[in-house]
Amino acid sequence: MITPDTIGKILDATRVEEVVGEFVKLKKRGINLIGLCPFHNEKTPSFHVSPVKGIYKCFGCGKAGSAVSFLMEHEQYSYPDALRYLARKYQVEIEEEKPSEEQQIAIDEKEALFNLTAFAQKYFEDTLYQSEEGKAIAMLYLKERGFSLETIKKFGLGYSPGQWDNFARYAAKNGYKKELLIKSGLVKESDHQIYDTFRSRIIFPVHSVSGRVLGFGARLLISDKNKPKYLNSPENDIYHKSKILYGIFHSRTAIAKLDNCLLVEGYTDVISMHQAGIENVIASSGTSLTADQIRLIRRYTSNITLLFDGDPAGIKAAFRGVDMILSEGLNVRLVLFPDGEDPDSYARKYRPVEVQQFIAENSVDFISFKTKLLLNEAQNDPIKKASLIKEIAQTIALVADPITRSLYTRKCSEMLQIEESLLIDETNRIRRKKVLPAEFEQSPIDVAPEYIPEPQHPTASKNVTNGFHEKEVIRMLLQYGDRMLELDALDDLGKPIIVSVRLADFVVEDLSSDQLTFDNEVCQKIHQIFQYNIQNAEVPALRVFTDHPDALVRQITMSLIETPYQLSENWQAKHHIYVKPESENIKESLLQILYAFKLKRIDRMIADNQIKLSNAVDESELTGFLKLDMELKSKRKTFADALNRIIP
Ligand code: GTP
Ligand code: MN
Repeated sequence: MITPDTIGKILDATRVEEVVGEFVKLKKRGINLIGLCPFHNEKTPSFHVSPVKGIYKCFGCGKAGSAVSFLMEHEQYSYPDALRYLARKYQVEIEEEKPSEEQQIAIDEKEALFNLTAFAQKYFEDTLYQSEEGKAIAMLYLKERGFSLETIKKFGLGYSPGQWDNFARYAAKNGYKKELLIKSGLVKESDHQIYDTFRSRIIFPVHSVSGRVLGFGARLLISDKNKPKYLNSPENDIYHKSKILYGIFHSRTAIAKLDNCLLVEGYTDVISMHQAGIENVIASSGTSLTADQIRLIRRYTSNITLLFDGDPAGIKAAFRGVDMILSEGLNVRLVLFPDGEDPDSYARKYRPVEVQQFIAENSVDFISFKTKLLLNEAQNDPIKKASLIKEIAQTIALVADPITRSLYTRKCSEMLQIEESLLIDETNRIRRKKVLPAEFEQSPIDVAPEYIPEPQHPTASKNVTNGFHEKEVIRMLLQYGDRMLELDALDDLGKPIIVSVRLADFVVEDLSSDQLTFDNEVCQKIHQIFQYNIQNAEVPALRVFTDHPDALVRQITMSLIETPYQLSENWQAKHHIYVKPESENIKESLLQILYAFKLKRIDRMIADNQIKLSNAVDESELTGFLKLDMELKSKRKTFADALNRIIP
């Protein structure tokens, strides 16, 4: 257990834009930052980060939260792990209390797998550096391939020895259960015997965006025609092949910085390129990119450059899947290496500057490349040329951005030596036929019905649930707890004066004098935190709630403080309705909310009491309930009168 004191220190140091910025490319817009939402597929940014409020919110999919909840949602961290991540990032020393019993109890399956992959990674690494086989054979192989010790360390490369069950036994000895070992794919079972999946292989750990080991790639040390050159971890709770990009952890910063992502085929290509000083590179592991992988790349850049072998097979491989990349809105460029070379072999032959220069000089935009290639094939054959125009138009039609599209029609029509209008017409015809579904996503976000404010007229209170009023009170506490209110009062001589009171103090005091609590447990919890802190003269900071260990507290807080009222103001403006914004009218809004809440509550108390009254068994009981009935009704009148005074 991390101590509350440490949690406070961590949260104080945390800046939401820096945390989110590690995973999402953010641009400044006014006092906020915006970017493409990592939680849903979009092409125009609707993901907002507010450094001032310490929160993020996507206006497209509605996901919202603090830095902590971002890590939990995006990186699948548990609450304590998210805090640990932040502590590392901001160099806050963690004071831990003795582990609680709960912590001793089994961690969930994902955590167990993560735990095992981290353990295995260490084992493979140790084996490479320490075992005779590792030192003598595997290390020699890696050195011969030109990997420096620094590079080997950076990518956490390891070695799995040739024996049958070295790892299986070692893991079992360290308490890892057979079921988990099998699930991870590191160990297999046959005839009640367990054995290692990867034997005599170089191990490439595959990292998540945040650097956790998800699984492994394993390359045969000595080539053997009867065995696959590479083996990979199987699909499991943490290793999803279609979402993995090898190198993303080590390359993501450079990708965002250079606003370009180089895509290569294999593990060794990524590693060699890094060693050559080219760090914005990832591998698809020999297959074409999936929609999930493209989305992952798009968090950092919208430019992708494919690096392929220049032989016909390489070109074919490069063409595969480009349509998908284009229709996902990325710009595609292509670099073809000399026949028979891949980025790894090229980087081994030439000096880093030469590799960098080669890439810079040989990168061509994909559509022009395709046009040139097809044009060469068509030569001067008019029939072939006609079908070629159609084919080029097909590709251009995939490009979502109209400006980019028109640049391509211009350029390609020049290359093809045809009228530009011909290509434009053909492209538009194709686009009309299959209107890309992605474009529908881009329709402007109108105000969703749930953002339209509830009517604030008191008579409406009968129609809305009590939960609404409770939450409104909590919202006022959260949003304006430390604002000062000017309230009418009487001094000790009975003379009217104006006093200045902090909103949170006023609300907490007012509710407790009427002995009112909240039905909703979470609202009650939030209220209690205010009560507790007010006693210590402090209004709790918003992050106490946005980063609270209880997920429900975080959730309600977010749903209350995200910007529905700003939106409602927009909505009002759009419909030419002008109501003074709440923030300029806090006192009236608060009193209105408070009295509506009390009225609702007292109505229920009256109703409850009347049931008791009709069931009263004797005279004295009856008198008691009657008396209470009168008291409640008189209180009700006070609240109703007060409310009427506020509502003009
Ligand atoms: P080296 O031969 O060590 O240079 O590796 P490489 O990365 O150049 O391999 P290659 O170009 O043959 O393949 C590119 C990528 O395809 C590899 O990094 C692997 O991800 C994948 N791959 C290659 N061979 C196999 C295989 O036999 N099985 C599987 N599952 N994947 C493979
Ligand atoms: Mn290779």
